Amino acid sequence: MRALTWQGKREVSVETVLDPVLREPTDIVIEVTSTAICGSDLHLYEVLGPFMDKGDILGHEPMGVVVEAGAESGCRVGDRVVIPFGIACGRCWMCERGLTSQCETTQVRDYGSGAALLGYSRLYGSVPGGQAEYLRVPHADFGAVKVGAELPDHRYLFLSDVIPTAWQAVEYADVGEGDTLAVYGLGPIGQMAARIGVHLGAEVFGIDPVVERRAMAARHGIRVFDFDDDTHDRIREATAGRGPDAVVDAVGMEAHGSPLGKAAHQAVSLLPDAIGRKMMETGGLDRLSALHSSIDLVRRGGTVSLAGVYGGQASPMPLLTLFDKQIQLRMGQCNVHRWTQRLLPLVEDPADPLGTEDLVTHRLPLSAAPEAYEAFQKKSDGCIKVVLDPTS
Ligand SMILES: NC(=O)c1ccc[n+]([C@@H]2O[C@H](COP(=O)([O-])OP(=O)(O)OC[C@H]3O[C@@H](n4cnc5c(N)ncnc54)[C@H](O)[C@@H]3O)[C@@H](O)[C@H]2O)c1
Ligand SMILES: [Zn+2]
Ligand SMILES: [Zn+2]
Repeated sequence: MRALTWQGKREVSVETVLDPVLREPTDIVIEVTSTAICGSDLHLYEVLGPFMDKGDILGHEPMGVVVEAGAESGCRVGDRVVIPFGIACGRCWMCERGLTSQCETTQVRDYGSGAALLGYSRLYGSVPGGQAEYLRVPHADFGAVKVGAELPDHRYLFLSDVIPTAWQAVEYADVGEGDTLAVYGLGPIGQMAARIGVHLGAEVFGIDPVVERRAMAARHGIRVFDFDDDTHDRIREATAGRGPDAVVDAVGMEAHGSPLGKAAHQAVSLLPDAIGRKMMETGGLDRLSALHSSIDLVRRGGTVSLAGVYGGQASPMPLLTLFDKQIQLRMGQCNVHRWTQRLLPLVEDPADPLGTEDLVTHRLPLSAAPEAYEAFQKKSDGCIKVVLDPTS
């Protein structure tokens, strides 16, 4: 089959690789009909290189049709399914408590990581990903989400990651009717987090330096701001001088606006793997500008919720400000499975309350993936969300 593979820093290519096969009775193999590129893939493309191997298949936002079904997979050939990016057993202590991103059956203990993820480096189990014609899905008995045949792929596809991740971020931000919420970063995750805030009755402010991303958010009832010197003052003015009740950081470790961090990141990705890995794990080389901004902006006693991914153990954190402002901080990889049943009716609702019809800017064949990664990273050509179609 054809699959998108990692080859080096900012280098991916479509190659012919072995077809996946069933290994466990709970596995399925799907023919992938849609598979998205995520901001998290950009971390592999850029800074997480020391944890990648040449030829790793990327991708963790797939859906498709079952072509082979293990005897205990609960699926049948022909089922249309969406696959969560995290792999979880559904039976362990963590899964029973809804913490599927910490699944004790699939945890990657060699790296001290949580549950294995599709297509996400040695840190998360080196599982072949879904930007490919076919995908083996482990633990499909618990993970695969069966969906109907009527609606187009893009209605369901974002149940794999974007919508549950955004939902968890807003849930952790503890936002409801009449509250105020600011969302840092209006990539796909921020777009959805902001829309979910509006859906739950909050007044939502969205911040992003990219004009098309602000324009998209503005179409969904969000008050948008560039990343300017007076942005925080303007949002405070709109919130009785206090700042919003909660801030979602949907940017993560590759924030723009932190040149020192950028130089350090570049240094890491050019080092030999073993040294680079060590520095990435312990060096505190994160670019924390969006997190620091979120802590500054949130009102006293408010909540900061991190959806954006951060790496590194020794990040300097503004503990004095966190303590003084009495801020609650929540974060983590999304427990995708936990939110599925709540979110299915929203994506199937004819009124499309989360705007799944207005997120994808590019639908391309798998062969165009290398150019698509570049456009998504550079935010060129109005690129906000790319869906690859391996069947075209
Ligand atoms: N927690 C999870 O389970 C989970 C799941 C999926 C994605 N993520 C993470 O969420 C983050 C966002 O993902 P995405 O797909 O939306 O990616 P993205 O790269 O498209 O979005 C990031 C956005 O942040 C903006 N930005 C950069 N610096 C900024 C700054 N200083 N201030 C304001 N905005 C700034 C960029 O312009 C961009 O629009 C990534 O870190 C990704 O890894 C986490
Ligand atoms: Zn993703
Ligand atoms: Zn489990």
